[in-house]
Amino acid sequence: MKKDNRFVSMDINGKTYKFPFTSPTAGPNVIDIRNLYKEADVFTYDPGFTSTASCQSDITFIDGEKGILQYRGYSIEDLAEHSHFLEVCFLLLYGDLPTYDEMVRFEELVTMHTMVHEQLINFYRGFRRDAHPMAIITGVVGALSAFYHDSIDINDPQQREIACIRMIAKLPTITAMAHKYSIGQPYIYPSNDLDYSSNFLKMCFSVPAEKYESNEIISTAMDRIFMLHADHEQNASTSTVRLAGSSGANPFACIAAGIACLWGPAHGGANEACLMMLHEIGTPDKIPEYLKRAKDRNDPFRLMGFGHRVYKNFDPRAHVMKKSADAVLDLVDSKNKPILNVAKELERIALEDDYFRDRKLYPNVDFYSGIILNALGFPTSMFTPIFALSRTVGWISQWKEMIVDPTLKIGRPRQKYMGKVNLEYIPVEDRPK
Ligand code: CMC
Repeated sequence: MKKDNRFVSMDINGKTYKFPFTSPTAGPNVIDIRNLYKEADVFTYDPGFTSTASCQSDITFIDGEKGILQYRGYSIEDLAEHSHFLEVCFLLLYGDLPTYDEMVRFEELVTMHTMVHEQLINFYRGFRRDAHPMAIITGVVGALSAFYHDSIDINDPQQREIACIRMIAKLPTITAMAHKYSIGQPYIYPSNDLDYSSNFLKMCFSVPAEKYESNEIISTAMDRIFMLHADHEQNASTSTVRLAGSSGANPFACIAAGIACLWGPAHGGANEACLMMLHEIGTPDKIPEYLKRAKDRNDPFRLMGFGHRVYKNFDPRAHVMKKSADAVLDLVDSKNKPILNVAKELERIALEDDYFRDRKLYPNVDFYSGIILNALGFPTSMFTPIFALSRTVGWISQWKEMIVDPTLKIGRPRQKYMGKVNLEYIPVEDRPK
């Protein structure tokens, strides 16, 4: 945010107050109301933070009206087309694309940390076999602080750095182990000769009894899903990570908090809910019935994978995802093709419908991601864990940025209290029977 000398005046209870009016590099101007309460003794009221910038950040820019998403200034379309996930990790963490040598060193560093402490296996055994993998990874990631004592001092830059690398390196292993545990197969150790995405796929789908061969088209589709989900500025889970981190909590605890928040169906859980919905619809002739329900205010049903708090235009990630869905389904799976057709038809009809047009509801990233993940062989319960794995780099980059921000304060929103006050306590025996 540029410092300038502009102010906005606010008349509050007959007195005029001035607040700095600042312009970011891109996006709406910002009124800096940090002194509002101190000076004017009032709060602002903004449930869901629809008009509140909670921090200053250099990482990700979204223009929801135009459907633009950029990581450190690079468009998501360009990155999805030309880059790969580990390069995007470097970009998000350090602010610039790496040189060739930096890329090689970074890949070696991440690869060196892909294994998890052997004792972590005991944690997995404590969960029921039918536990949702999100429940497992929330617990296991939180438990990492009990295993990696040399990376929890948030005041030591070296420890912060190693915590970031560990998180990026270990999440694929932790997520794949949750999958293997739920299907009763042996865990597969990471293969450091494979790239990040191929290694993850191998840990999920290979078995010790058989030779595993990776497929480049599938690995590229996986890598693209990781890239598209890597960061999304101050969404609910990222804000949760920042809020947890603002108290000085260690990075593993903060990421576990983010994972827990991501699980909800309005956030990362939407991909699972969306594929279930598409299967429930089943055939294009049922679409009008479901659209009618989605438009009915008295029916809680919503079109999953549609709408977004920030995008009031196409979610740019949905475009890339749709192309990927076509490529993957052509290659691997014909049984999901009818579902892809239902999705395309649903999108077409919804976008011609006044209800969705008036409310600017477009397909979001989750509309097509479930179809791809399912075609790759993942059960629906693994969709949100894969989102969590991908988003980990975004969370940890935001946490890293926050820790060195000189304006950092513990996050402590206030409230508009509407409850009772000053009641007199009456002992239970004196209350009406
Ligand atoms: N189906 C039907 N109506 C909808 C939908 C939908 N998917 N989304 C929003 N609306 C309607 C909503 O009923 C409201 O109508 P009205 O003005 O008549 O009351 C209007 O559109 C505005 O909705 P809102 O709930 O005020 O919008 P929001 O910004 O609070 O919610 C959202 C955003 C993503 C939670 C919501 O669009 C939704 O529930 N979508 C389905 C779940 C989903 O796909 N979530 C994934 C989001 S992308 C991945 C991520 O970032 O996590």
